[in-house]
Amino acid sequence: MSLFTKPLTSSAGRIAAACAVRRRSSLTAELIENMDKKATWDRFYSESSGGASAFKNFEWFFGFEAVRDFIMPLLQAAPRPPGLLQVLDLGCGTSALGPCIYRHSPLPVRVTCADISPIAVRLMREQVRADALRAHSVSSRLEFVELDCTQLHTRYAARSVDLVVDKGTTDALLRSKEGKGKAGLVLQQCLTALRSSGSLLQFSDEDPDARLPWLETEAREPGGVAADVGVHEVGELRGMTYYCYRVTPRAIE
Ligand SMILES: C[S@@+](CC[C@H](N)C(=O)[O-])C[C@H]1O[C@@H](n2cnc3c(N)ncnc32)[C@H](O)[C@@H]1O
Repeated sequence: MSLFTKPLTSSAGRIAAACAVRRRSSLTAELIENMDKKATWDRFYSESSGGASAFKNFEWFFGFEAVRDFIMPLLQAAPRPPGLLQVLDLGCGTSALGPCIYRHSPLPVRVTCADISPIAVRLMREQVRADALRAHSVSSRLEFVELDCTQLHTRYAARSVDLVVDKGTTDALLRSKEGKGKAGLVLQQCLTALRSSGSLLQFSDEDPDARLPWLETEAREPGGVAADVGVHEVGELRGMTYYCYRVTPRAIE
């Protein structure tokens, strides 16, 4: 090694580290205001995935085990449609939530994990292929699709979905500078897509004092599907309280 290489390498290392810190803080700044934007999430999943060989699911808030008791009983209690139960993980990212529902559902399900970020969708497709997941039921299906969930009607007919799970996606939209309208649109699209026996579960750290009035107001939008709203505490993690908001389309009389 030349005498000059070492100082050059360590200062290059420092520059690289400083760039990494700057990149991280610029990503954090982008995330704070722009969590409704595809480009923000593409960047997030590109920079945090660690490449195909080092892939690790990224879980917003918490993973499947923290919420399985909110999700699985709804699948067992759902009236059985002629085909598969239809489950949608809305804004799935690279979470293992959808694959876990697929694996653990005792009834045959089609779990669709949808995200606006093609990077997240590609990472999950590659991962699931590598994992060769097995479901309880041989008829169950798991799929990953690139989809803007403000446009659910392009994929789902009205009253065709049994369960929508949303872990952090509505939170992300509501907290973005330009996302509030999109959050309302996503809610309306979910209510239209859900069967009358179906439910939307939103896992969130937003306090019920803020989320419940928002849900109730949005569900009363003229021309939309009316809904009932309830809340349960999921628990506390790292000093934050998390909630499960359940939204059910009101039966038409
Ligand atoms: C806070 S992250 C939650 C990810 C995942 N549900 C989890 O628990 O880790 C929000 C996710 O919503 C996705 N997203 C944002 N806007 C969206 C939209 N309009 N349609 C579909 N996905 C969207 C983002 O790409 C991101 O993966």
